[in-house]
This record gives sequence, C-alpha cells and structure tokens, in this order.
Amino acid sequence: LIVLAHPESSSYNAHLATLAQQTLLATGSRVEMSDLYAMGFDPAEDARHFSVRADPRRFDAQLEQRFSYDREELPEAVQGEVDKILRADLVLLHFPLWWFGMPAILKGWMDRVFVYGGMYSGSRRHERGVCRGKRALFCVTTGSSEAACSPTGKEGDTRLVLWPALYSMRYLGFTVLQPFLVHGVRGGLTGPAADAANARLHAIEQRFATVLRQLDDAPVMPFNADTDFDENGQLKPDAPVYSPFIRHQE
Ligand SMILES: Cc1cc2nc3c(=O)[nH]c(=O)nc-3n(C[C@H](O)[C@H](O)[C@H](O)COP(=O)(O)O)c2cc1C
Repeated sequence: LIVLAHPESSSYNAHLATLAQQTLLATGSRVEMSDLYAMGFDPAEDARHFSVRADPRRFDAQLEQRFSYDREELPEAVQGEVDKILRADLVLLHFPLWWFGMPAILKGWMDRVFVYGGMYSGSRRHERGVCRGKRALFCVTTGSSEAACSPTGKEGDTRLVLWPALYSMRYLGFTVLQPFLVHGVRGGLTGPAADAANARLHAIEQRFATVLRQLDDAPVMPFNADTDFDENGQLKPDAPVYSPFIRHQE
C-alpha cells in the first residue's frame, strides 16, 4: 500500500510514489494506492462521520471509533483504508516535511484510520499489534539541506522529528524501516543548478528503487520491548535506550 500526501501530482513526492508503484509492480507485487488529496480524504476526526453513536451527547473519538468498529459501521472512507492496510504487507508513506511534521491530511488519516478497538487497543499494540509482520517505510522530502537536517543542523535532526510518527507505526505493530529521506528538494532552479539538482535526485531515485527491491536488507528501527517497562510504564533501569524520546533520567 502506497499512501501519498501531496496536493500536486507533478511534485517530486508524487514522482517518487509512482516510482515506488512501478518498482514494486515489477517485482510481481500487487500495489494499492491511497492518493489522499486525489481521494479528497477528510482528515478531521469528528462526530459527523459517525452514523451510529455510543454516546450521542458528548463526542469521545476513541469511544465512537471502537463502537462503530465493533458494529462494523465504520465511516466508509475509513473502512476502505483499514481494509487496504490489513491486505498490505508493506505500507509506504510518502510526504513532504511540512512544519517539522507530516502534512495535516496524513496526520488526520492516521487519526481516523488507526481505529481504536480495531487497529489497536491496550492489549493489542507494539509486539502484539494488529500490524505485526507488516513493514512500514516513510519516504520523506525536505526543503532544507542534509546538513541543516542533521543532528547538529539548524533544522534539527529529521530522524528525531519523525520519531513520534514512526513510533505510531510501531504502536500498531509494524516493523518500521529506517525512513528514506531526500533533503534539499526545491523548485525554481534554472541552468546548471537545475541540472545538478536533477542529476542528484535521479541518483536518489535509483537508490530508492534498490531499497524497495531489497526490503529484506533495509535497516529496521529498534524500539524498546514491552518488557523494558515496569507496571507504571517506566523504563526499567537496565533497559536499553534507542531514542531521546524514551531515555533514562540523568
Ligand atoms: C507548509 C510547508 C511547510 C514546510 N515546512 C518545512 C520544514 O519544516 N522543513 C523543511 O525542510 N522543509 C519544509 N517545507 C519545504 C518542503 O518540505 C519541500 O518543499 C518539499 O519537501 C519538496 O518536495 P515536493 O517538491 O514534492 O513538494 C515546507 C513546505 C511547506 C509548503
């Protein structure tokens, strides 16, 4: 499943999504596409989406998600995406970095499609997640340069910026691959500068296609196991640390 979150079909993001589609089709895979803007996906989780309500007086998103999932009455647009995820063994998320995060349409896709009670619950998450055995890969472009997006760069470390979103995939049980990042993607170049930029992006496309053809070799993100935490959800003193987001206190 390829999920694309970009409003312009001639963008580099859309181009990479098409490249991914062609590359995966050439390996004999079936490929489904969710082009969120083209679909007009409504990213705002809201009471109006729910035709049946557990509590019609007060909107509790998780309560209503679980209720409509259990009654098999999820909003149609959500059910379609849930089905695609459940059919997939690889979910690719293609998006540009917008304000140090994903575009709102994709965040809202997560808010609505990662249905409480269906795609995750207190007892079905992380290692016991619904999506265990499936792989997730983010393909992200940034306008800023690789240097600026590095751990010492002025834009901050893009891998760290993306960590909460990647952790959301892990929450559902996905095996999360290290994100494929393309920095310094910008339009408006002319002459030799444009030629150099195109040559660089072309080389990156070859690298991306190779990653997709050899997914078994792609580096996997490490996360703490459930057993690394105590009954209060606190990291145990001897547990390993994989990210500044979950760490031992100084
Ligand atoms: C609303 C908005 C916010 C953006 N925020 C960032 C940002 O936080 N960091 C960054 O490096 N680039 C940022 N950019 C630049 C985009 O990441 C860049 O234009 C895009 O990745 C280029 O790929 P595209 O040609 O497929 O759109 C932003 C662009 C827009 C429109």
